Amino acid sequence: MATTTTDHEAIRKWVEERGGHPARVDATGRSGNPGVLRIEFSGEGKGKLKRIEWDEFFQWFDRDQLAFIYQDRARGGRPSRFNKLVSRARVGDGHGGQKQGGAKRGAAPAQDAIEILTSQHRMVEEMFEQLEAERPGSAEYRRLFADLADALAVHSTIEEQVFYPGVKREETEGLLENSVEEHLEVKRVLATLMETAPDGDARGELEELAGLTEEHVLEEEHELFPQVRKLLAADELRDLARRMTELEAELRREGEPRAEVPNETDEPAPI
Ligand SMILES: [Fe+2]
Repeated sequence: MATTTTDHEAIRKWVEERGGHPARVDATGRSGNPGVLRIEFSGEGKGKLKRIEWDEFFQWFDRDQLAFIYQDRARGGRPSRFNKLVSRARVGDGHGGQKQGGAKRGAAPAQDAIEILTSQHRMVEEMFEQLEAERPGSAEYRRLFADLADALAVHSTIEEQVFYPGVKREETEGLLENSVEEHLEVKRVLATLMETAPDGDARGELEELAGLTEEHVLEEEHELFPQVRKLLAADELRDLARRMTELEAELRREGEPRAEVPNETDEPAPI
C-alpha cells in the first residue's frame, strides 16, 4: 500500500534511499516560481527535469500545499519508486484514503460503489500474485489468467460505464480523464497477453500489466476515491453500487467479459 505524507524528513529519506533528487519540470518554471515539482531518478526525464535543492523544493511544496504519496515496496517485495505529488486538499486530511468507509462500516449492510471497487482492487492484486506463482502454460495458469482477464475487463467496464460518468464533476474530470487513459494502456497490454499468455511464457508482459494496474489502483484509492467521498452523498454511492452490480451480473451472464477487450484498444472510453 502507499502512504501519504507532508513530512519533509520522511520524504527526503524515501527519495535519497532510492538515489533520487528533488527536481522541477524545466519548461514549467517562471521567474521566482520553480513550476511543477517532481522527483528525479538518475537517467529519467533527461532534459525535461532540472534538479533543485531540497530547501527550495520544500519551500514550494509547502507554499503550494502539496502532499507526497509514496510506496515502500512493490508487490513481490521489490523497493518501489512509485511516488506522486498531489494537492493536500485532494487527499483530504493528508492521510490519503485510509479513513474511507470507516465511519459507515456496520451502519449500512450494502456496499457502496467505492467499497465495491476497492475490494475488486484487492481481488485483482491477489490474482496477480497467484498467477505469478504458477508455471506458465499449466492448466491452472490458464484458468487463473482467464479469471484475471475477466476481472480486469469487468472492473474497467463498470468504472467506465457507471462509476466514472456518475462521479463526473468539475473537480474530478481531470482524474477521470487520466483513469480512462490508464485503462486504455491496461487493455492494450491485456489484449496482447490474451494472445500470448495462455501458451507461452509472458512474464515480462504480465509484470508490465501488474505495474500498470498497481499504479491505477494507487491513484484511484489516494486521489479519486477520497475526492468522490467528499462530493457524493452516501445514497448516491449506494445507487451507483446497485447499478454497477447489475452491470457486472449482465456482463458475466453474457459469457466471457474479457472477449471485448481487444475491441477496446483504439481510444480511451468516453466519460
Ligand atoms: Fe479501478
